[in-house]
Amino acid sequence: MTLFPRSLLWRTVLLLALLLVAGNLAWLQIFRVTEREPRASQIAQQITSVVNLTRSALITANPEKRLDLLRDLSQQEGIQVYLNAPNEPVAPLPDMPFARLITAELQRRLGDDTTLLGASDGTRTVWVSFKIDDEKYWVRLPRERIERQEQLRWIGWGVLVLLLSVAGAFLIVARINRPLRELARAAAAIGGGRIPPPVRESGPAEIRMLSRAFNQMTSDLKRIDEDRALLLAGVSHDLRTPLARIRLGVEMLGGNTDTTLTDGMVQDIEDIDAVINQFLDFARITGEQSAASELDLNELVNSVVERYQRQGKSIATRLGSVPQLQMKALAIQRLLTNLLDNALHHGGTGVEVETAAADGRVRLSVLDRGAGIPATEAERMLQPFTRLNEARTTSGSGLGLAIVDRIAKMHGGNVSLLARDGGGLEARVEFPVATVKN
Ligand SMILES: Nc1ncnc2c1ncn2[C@@H]1O[C@H](COP(=O)(O)OP(=O)(O)O)[C@@H](O)[C@H]1O
Ligand SMILES: [Mg+2]
Repeated sequence: MTLFPRSLLWRTVLLLALLLVAGNLAWLQIFRVTEREPRASQIAQQITSVVNLTRSALITANPEKRLDLLRDLSQQEGIQVYLNAPNEPVAPLPDMPFARLITAELQRRLGDDTTLLGASDGTRTVWVSFKIDDEKYWVRLPRERIERQEQLRWIGWGVLVLLLSVAGAFLIVARINRPLRELARAAAAIGGGRIPPPVRESGPAEIRMLSRAFNQMTSDLKRIDEDRALLLAGVSHDLRTPLARIRLGVEMLGGNTDTTLTDGMVQDIEDIDAVINQFLDFARITGEQSAASELDLNELVNSVVERYQRQGKSIATRLGSVPQLQMKALAIQRLLTNLLDNALHHGGTGVEVETAAADGRVRLSVLDRGAGIPATEAERMLQPFTRLNEARTTSGSGLGLAIVDRIAKMHGGNVSLLARDGGGLEARVEFPVATVKN
């Protein structure tokens, strides 16, 4: 699992947030570096004035008043002055550019032998040395006197600005992303065999262009589909009547010629008729408008299978308990007969129908013990007019599985052609329990 988000929206927002953080950190650093020198000199100046004032007060005060003066300084200003050495453990300030700058500036202003030390026990104080005549004095300053205490608030504001920027970035990206998401959904619908309603043509020019092209494509697809259905329906319908006449003629001929010849011809006519039926079915599916209703799938399977059994076909059933489904009964019946026709025609033996429900899906499988369909060809066989062995002379339209596929998708389901355990084909149709389209 990766933490990097998959959607364009979150990816872009994350990258923008990283960019903003990096940019702000860079600015912060630039600011700190450029601000260092003026701030150091400001602090050095403050220390210098404290030291100078203390020193001149000490020099000019009456010797007997000095003690009072020192007490006053300590009480009112928090400044303590000691002779010779600090009265607490001290250590040099950490060797950082900022401390170095202050020390250098202090030495420039107060003399080269000025030392700057910090309390080594973590107390926030600094010690500065100065001289009166040859005596060395130390001033103890609380750090608050010379340092600004704003850094935490600073960080707070920075974080707030950053959050606002990320929120702004989110809004901008979401705006761009919305039409893209809509397009992706529509494209997925086409992939699932449905024609989605047109997407909105809005947003920036490139995306508008994309949406327009996409809408053009879907409407073309829809028109091609409808044209094909219309053509198929028209041609099939027109072929039927003459075909029926031919069949009648051939059967009447049968009386006074070789019956094997006429029987063959009748068989051929029946095959042609079956193909025409497929054409009509296919055309009907494309324009299918009938309403779905509650359906007991097992009941439907039983009635279809019984019809086959009456014709002497051997089909076994293994029906599990399945919930009632919202389905178009006629279409599902057509789906099942197409799969059974295939199993009997291409498979031959061991034909079984199985139903089961699991994980919110209902499964309908038609199985046989024929040669099966190679996995590499399975997807292609679902396309209209495709057959495994095009050169084979057996009759068929190549539309059966395409019809099955369309009916399954119409119900939000999908078809897979699998290798059956122990040889043969399993044509598996899976429906979601709760959904049906249209
Ligand atoms: N049960 C099956 N066993 C083996 N091959 C099959 C089976 N069902 C379908 N096929 C292959 O898939 C092709 C497409 O099937 P279909 O779309 O029903 O067209 P048709 O049955 O009219 O040829 C068939 O021509 C056949 O080669
Ligand atoms: Mg078929």
